[in-house]
Amino acid sequence: MNIPIQKDHGLTKILKTLIEADDPVSGTLIGESLGCSRTTVHTKIEQLKSEGFGINAASRRGYVLETIPENLNPTLLSYYSLLHNNPIPIYYYSTIDSTNLQSERLFSNGVSPPFCVIGIQQTKGKGRLGRKWQSQCNKNLYASIMLSPKKSPQKLQSFTLWAGIEICRSLKRILPNIPLKVKWPNDLYCRNKKFAGMLTEARIDQDCIQSIIFGLGLNINTDLKNMPHEIQDIATSLKAESKKNLDMNLTTIEMISAIVRAYKKCLLSQTSEPLVVAWEELDFLRGKEIRLLENGSQLAGIGMGINSVGALQIRIANGTIRSVYSGDVTLS
Ligand code: BTN
Repeated sequence: MNIPIQKDHGLTKILKTLIEADDPVSGTLIGESLGCSRTTVHTKIEQLKSEGFGINAASRRGYVLETIPENLNPTLLSYYSLLHNNPIPIYYYSTIDSTNLQSERLFSNGVSPPFCVIGIQQTKGKGRLGRKWQSQCNKNLYASIMLSPKKSPQKLQSFTLWAGIEICRSLKRILPNIPLKVKWPNDLYCRNKKFAGMLTEARIDQDCIQSIIFGLGLNINTDLKNMPHEIQDIATSLKAESKKNLDMNLTTIEMISAIVRAYKKCLLSQTSEPLVVAWEELDFLRGKEIRLLENGSQLAGIGMGINSVGALQIRIANGTIRSVYSGDVTLS
């Protein structure tokens, strides 16, 4: 059975106190605010240290937080969740087969959406079109969000496109000078290389969506040399492109917020115009010579954005525009 790492609210409260304090904080003060003894505070401080927090308790003045862990950490995720009003509970696993599969299992076992599943590593990460998603590196994000919209499939047909837009916009706020783009239908690209992929899986009964699992694989702090050889020429990470280490935990909470925003936009949108306009601003394929592969046949032309239902527009040699609803696109 897969057991998530348990959240400890006491740890989150201590961390909040330490992060927000300007001066050293005494064990007595922390104990008073938490309603526990100094010994319990000491035990919890030791636990935080073992999770990778650098905490100095020198010279009897109290505790000082000096460093936070670089990798995904449940206590930091929980702290940032509070700070950013993230309304979605997070189930966090050190290793899981696939966060999409685990979301499905939790849902089947009665856990109510919305919720998020995060794995530090996945052993069977799923990609689009039955492909595998390489998921052994703990410096990337592997996350799924489970939603239960109870709406018609048409209402959410643009959800993945909106998610790509909102994720890209959110990352651009963190890295304003990096050319981050969306590539139809569900990739994020930077300078001709992929740094993220999305996989949306829906369960539909009687023309009503019972559940949607939105899976995101985002390469955050991996160095190119540590990526699997077979994808080194086509994949990249935010760190490789920006030469900066990102805060994994903060970025994760920003991603969850972006996905929730995309979901709400999709549900509230009355017309498709905002989607078409937003896509145009970030479209990796626009104006480029592209090739679409679908069911063994090829279509070549120029990328012309998306139409009102999110279909890719390709201008072919005779000048006509073809709408494409699925397939794999490469640059010619
Ligand atoms: C693709 O580009 O082919 C989509 C990749 C989606 C990968 C993510 S990682 C988290 C979630 N869990 C999975 O098993 N897959 C998605």
